[in-house]
Amino acid sequence: MNIRPRRNRKSAPIRSMVEETKIGVEHLIYPIFLKDGIKIKEEISSLPKNFRWSIDLLIPEIEQCLKLGISTFDIFPAVEEHLKDKTASYSYASDNFYLNAIWKLKETFPEMIIMTDVALDPYSSDGHDGLVENGKILNDQTLPILNKMALAQAQAGADIIGPSDMMDGRVGSIRETLDINGFSDVSIMSYTAKYASAFYGPFRDALNSAPKSGDKKSYQMNPANKREALLEAELDVMEGADFIMVKPALCYLDIIHLLKENFNIPVTAYNVSGECAMVYAAAEKGWLNYDLAISEMLLSMRRAGADAILTYFAKDFAQLLKK
Ligand code: PBG
Repeated sequence: MNIRPRRNRKSAPIRSMVEETKIGVEHLIYPIFLKDGIKIKEEISSLPKNFRWSIDLLIPEIEQCLKLGISTFDIFPAVEEHLKDKTASYSYASDNFYLNAIWKLKETFPEMIIMTDVALDPYSSDGHDGLVENGKILNDQTLPILNKMALAQAQAGADIIGPSDMMDGRVGSIRETLDINGFSDVSIMSYTAKYASAFYGPFRDALNSAPKSGDKKSYQMNPANKREALLEAELDVMEGADFIMVKPALCYLDIIHLLKENFNIPVTAYNVSGECAMVYAAAEKGWLNYDLAISEMLLSMRRAGADAILTYFAKDFAQLLKK
């Protein structure tokens, strides 16, 4: 044998020298759930180790994460039922606790990068990402609401707007709204290839945002489709997205790879709640090693082509990297 691949694996320094994929804390975005009130830190039963925070308790938590090197946070609001309506009007209300919290966080930690979510579902009495009429999700009538929401978030201090609703044309519509209002520096990370997935369950528990009727298949993508992701990405790039996201990540590594090969803007991956919940549960039962499993999962997303990864493992993984 003159070719022996094992020679390049014979010691840790040689393995490290030829390592093809790197992952660091700079690649992580940490999703966080926010709730109105004070002294609240409620664990999400289907997503252990993750909490609904009130802003007073979230501030020291963010401080810890910043010290660990995590710079970017994606914040989601858990809205009380009585504030929800058919048009999600609370999403841009002037007394909205989420917008106030973004303002407060930015004031406390000017160096922190805040990503916000644009979609109707956390504020909608129907639990859908768009307006519902006679069981149908309306596309064009939803866009003005998304624009108002995005603008309110930019005014509160958001650095990156994350449209997660999958309405057609929303990236262009939000881009135009931000630009004419003087927010041309605010970025858009589009949920480009967002699939109608079974892995969003714990997230919907966290926000109590599950659809009251029907499912999301008329706007989120069919998990069987790959070429359609190219079309979605083409549109988002033309409409002015700064990042294109694939969601979920683990069952869609081929889509991450496909978009990375075909587009010249950064690709991000959302390692969603259900993917993380599986690991928490198996590790709790002692069926797999948590540290090794999360490291391998996050590495696989980077290897597939993700520039950045949204993951509930962010804090644990950052701690692991410090060791
Ligand atoms: C909804 C939204 C969802 C997630 C992020 N934004 C769920 C859904 O589409 O029902 C899921 C994230 C996760 O599961 O971690 N706009």
